[in-house]
Amino acid sequence: MNGITLALSKGRIFEETLPLLAAAGITPTDNPDTSRKLILGTNRPDVRLVIVRATDTPTYVQYGAADMGIAGKDTLIEHGGAGLYQPLDLNIAKCRLCVAVQKDFDYAAAVKRGARIRVATKYVKAAKEHFAAKGMHVDLIKLYGSMELAPLVGLADAIVDLVSTGNTLRANNLVEVEDIMPISSRLVVNQASLKLKRELIQPVLEAFAGAIKP
Ligand code: PRP
Ligand code: MG
Repeated sequence: MNGITLALSKGRIFEETLPLLAAAGITPTDNPDTSRKLILGTNRPDVRLVIVRATDTPTYVQYGAADMGIAGKDTLIEHGGAGLYQPLDLNIAKCRLCVAVQKDFDYAAAVKRGARIRVATKYVKAAKEHFAAKGMHVDLIKLYGSMELAPLVGLADAIVDLVSTGNTLRANNLVEVEDIMPISSRLVVNQASLKLKRELIQPVLEAFAGAIKP
């Protein structure tokens, strides 16, 4: 494609990206919540959007199937960032990565006595780094969603997951015991695209940069 392709995921990232796109003069012609199309046109013939799973955004951009994408820091940590230029923190889709346990689980005591705890998470790499930095030995169990269920049914002692409003933790009688890091979404650009399509990418980058809210 001569124009540029931007990879986005449905939901919060898509919604919070709309004002940034507008600042760059880009308006999608379809809504991914109502359309089943995966390639969306825009008002600009040289810009199209592709709708991907959030965890796949870095992969599409890494291989140049999309020139640019918007991905959460959580996703970028798990991907590793190979082949990606990460010029902007867009300060959207903000949440935090946390350790949470059931209310009656004494996490501090388990840490203090050096207990080997079981931790369920989708964020294996971030969790591994977090516990290694604390000198804790943990058994990580990889899950793909509904992490909050794991402690309730005895699959794990703790979870590492994203917390936004805290509603999911509260609804499942879990409490946050450690804050690992703040998360927001970043603009990622394929390194070769940046060189070859600079005249198309640079203005979008600048418009996004100017529209970032603190
Ligand atoms: C995400 C995240 C938490 C929840 C946090 O889950 O994994 O479970 O949202 O939001 P809250 O603090 O506002 O409740 P999601 O709904 O995306 O489902 P999944 O984990 O099963 O993919
Ligand atoms: Mg969840």
